Amino acid sequence: MPGRLARILEALKDDDYRVLRAIERNLGRYEYVPAEVVERQSRLPPSRLLRSLRRLSDLKLVRRTLGSVIGYTLTFPGLDALAIRALTAKGVIEELGDVIGAGKESDVYIALTPTGRRVVVKLHREGKAPFHRIRRTRSFAADLNRRSLILWAKLLGEREFKALLELHARGARVPEPIAWNRHAVVQGLVEGAVELYRVPPLTVGEAREALAQVLETVRIAYREAGIVHGDLSEYNVLVAEEDGGVGAYVIDWPQYVYAAEPHASELLERDVRYITRFFRSKYGVEASLEEALAYVRGERGEPPV
Ligand SMILES: Nc1ncnc2c1ncn2[C@@H]1O[C@H](COP(=O)(O)OP(=O)(O)O)[C@@H](O)[C@H]1O
Ligand SMILES: [Mg+2]
Repeated sequence: MPGRLARILEALKDDDYRVLRAIERNLGRYEYVPAEVVERQSRLPPSRLLRSLRRLSDLKLVRRTLGSVIGYTLTFPGLDALAIRALTAKGVIEELGDVIGAGKESDVYIALTPTGRRVVVKLHREGKAPFHRIRRTRSFAADLNRRSLILWAKLLGEREFKALLELHARGARVPEPIAWNRHAVVQGLVEGAVELYRVPPLTVGEAREALAQVLETVRIAYREAGIVHGDLSEYNVLVAEEDGGVGAYVIDWPQYVYAAEPHASELLERDVRYITRFFRSKYGVEASLEEALAYVRGERGEPPV
């Protein structure tokens, strides 16, 4: 049973994608792209353009403004359609499946590749700090912010994909980066994974193993890739069964900061504090913050667990 996004994609025709692309291309210049610009750049005759715009409006993939000039902007589902279409055209995915995770900041889908492999498609939404705050406090500029949020979501997609590339290449325990288009990041599915905060209770041995794996990944990120996650918690760690033991993966990287940035060391300390505190309070794993920090900074060689 296809989900809402898959059903929308089935309803779209080539003309619709031409119109969506014509709008998208001009979002850097206009709040609402004037109808005349959409017409010229989509190269569609007026009757086909109107039919397409009506369909796109009904599906809520574009939004129209009636100012002195009629204009159009993209919605997030409109951006989703463009990204999924591009990933399909490139042969990265063949079929979009169900939503497997929906945070405030993304919608996460399962998808099938042409060879039948199950992968994850993460579609970024607004959110992830500075922008979030700006929007909340400036309601008068809601439309300006809508456009900017689309550009922001694309930036988050790019950042997350590039972070995963750097980390995965260095053997950190993160999902495999597969592809990126606009705000969409295609990554390996961590099979059978559950977030650490709600995983069925681990044995103490498994908990120690999971913490050691998370700290090792934080260490590789900091020492070798030169980045700090910045939002590490039991919500951004996935745990799966793995050859008789457990495997922990750190996900959700778009807000990373470079190790040389001003707040990096504060963020590193906070990340390590949150995760060691979780393992201490839920599983009684004793790993002191100081020792864990020394390990991830490379000041000691052995993990504290
Ligand atoms: N690679 C993955 N494998 C399996 N599940 C994933 C993967 N990436 C994300 N998820 C699921 O999607 C949820 C949200 O992903 P996350 O990257 O944390 O995005 P958000 O920014 O919305 O928090 C996760 O809690 C998890 O359930
Ligand atoms: Mg998350």
